[in-house]
Amino acid sequence: MSASFLVEWAKAQQPKAPTMKDASVFYRNLEEELDVRRAQHGCIMLHTKEQQENPMVDFSSTDILGLSTSGAVRKGYLAELAKHPDFTLSSHGSRLTDGNSRYLEDVERELAAFHGAEAGLIVNTGSLGNAAIFSVIPRPGDAIVYDELIHASVHDGMKDSLALYRKAFRHNDPESLYDALVAVQESQPQIRNGTRSVLVAVESVYSMDGDICPLQELIETAKEVFPDGNVQFVIDEAHSTGVIGPNGAGLVSALGLEREVAIRLHTFGKALAATGAVILCNETVRTMLINYARSIMFSVAPSFPMLASIRATYQLLRSGETQSAQNRVQEIVKFFLETMTSHPIWDKASDTGLLRLPTYEDAEVQPLALTQIIQLRTRTKHNFYLAFHLQRAGFSVFPISYPVVPKGTERVRIIFHAHNTDAEVMALVAAIAEWAQEMLEIESSGDKTRVPAAARHVYALIAQTHANGSE
Ligand SMILES: Cc1ncc(COP(=O)(O)O)c(C=O)c1O
Repeated sequence: MSASFLVEWAKAQQPKAPTMKDASVFYRNLEEELDVRRAQHGCIMLHTKEQQENPMVDFSSTDILGLSTSGAVRKGYLAELAKHPDFTLSSHGSRLTDGNSRYLEDVERELAAFHGAEAGLIVNTGSLGNAAIFSVIPRPGDAIVYDELIHASVHDGMKDSLALYRKAFRHNDPESLYDALVAVQESQPQIRNGTRSVLVAVESVYSMDGDICPLQELIETAKEVFPDGNVQFVIDEAHSTGVIGPNGAGLVSALGLEREVAIRLHTFGKALAATGAVILCNETVRTMLINYARSIMFSVAPSFPMLASIRATYQLLRSGETQSAQNRVQEIVKFFLETMTSHPIWDKASDTGLLRLPTYEDAEVQPLALTQIIQLRTRTKHNFYLAFHLQRAGFSVFPISYPVVPKGTERVRIIFHAHNTDAEVMALVAAIAEWAQEMLEIESSGDKTRVPAAARHVYALIAQTHANGSE
């Protein structure tokens, strides 16, 4: 966030309802609702990158491999368009009517083959994909057991599901999954006698924590409780697509668990240079989705331009050309972790809870791979102070707070890319350390009213916007 972002943000936090006494009650009520958020400085506003006066160093976008900016996918995409000069811009119908095409089915087959799945179903967004899966596939009498940090769109799907037994297990914790499955077994006779199933919902890489799901252990745990096989896994691979596994095929492929996982969702809008998602499954699940998923039945099918960009991206993955970018992400994250934790301020800052890297604190845990997402934990509210400091120093990072993450786990999320240089990472670490130094000085001064310079700057902007009214 640049200064212009901060000004826009400060403006967006000004209460509006009190200035709308003569406006329609309909709009005033909406503004009153928004004022609740504004009072907590939590009102979201939209800002375009073009509004920034100075380019920021990208530590926040999901263009992990640089595929959107490098031009490689663009070239393949334009070649794909040239091969089909009569293409239409819209699919002009749902999959069930005019929207289906041989091209769409060919791309689905290519994707299924790349990921080692029987079938694929491309959907317009990953969120709609999760909504489709979880509203339709768990049948009445089935149970859904899910990681407590599962994505919001899975919850959206579950709300419409006929499977009424739903239970969360502790994040990435096989023991907790065991307990949840035993609870299902004890309370659900049809599942116990094998006439109904349990679906376990996990993500390969968790978007706010950046840690990897212990998939193999979770599957073994599930088999221990249900040896007859009436438990199935559904995995959201949004943050591993392109980044983990052979040529970016994802976690399931990296672990060779294609036959153990019933449904995978790969999204294209993160590390890949496209939009939409593919649901990988068998023909039975695919036919169920086409027949029952309202988000698929009552929506136009993916358009040709969207499919052409997906095909171009996958051509690049298949060629192996993205593997070096994938390796570079591992290197740059390792470099950050080493540089940060060997900085002279690190021990004091982490002992006092100012800075923490919880995903990497447990030295016993050797992750399969590092991931591009780092949660830099700090204290409540301090995530704003730290993010403001880093933004003023020219780094694009965002504070993440409740309700996106549980209370008490506030953090700044840093996303690394193949195109981030060592020099950028060193400068980022220096800026984080500078903030920690400032905070330690404030704390040792004993002055409880003092806030760090970047936060003072933001508060001054808010005060100035309040003084100027709501123009
Ligand atoms: C884990 C996860 N699943 C699904 C989605 C949704 O994907 P899409 O942006 O294609 O709707 C996201 C994106 O925010 C995500 O982080």
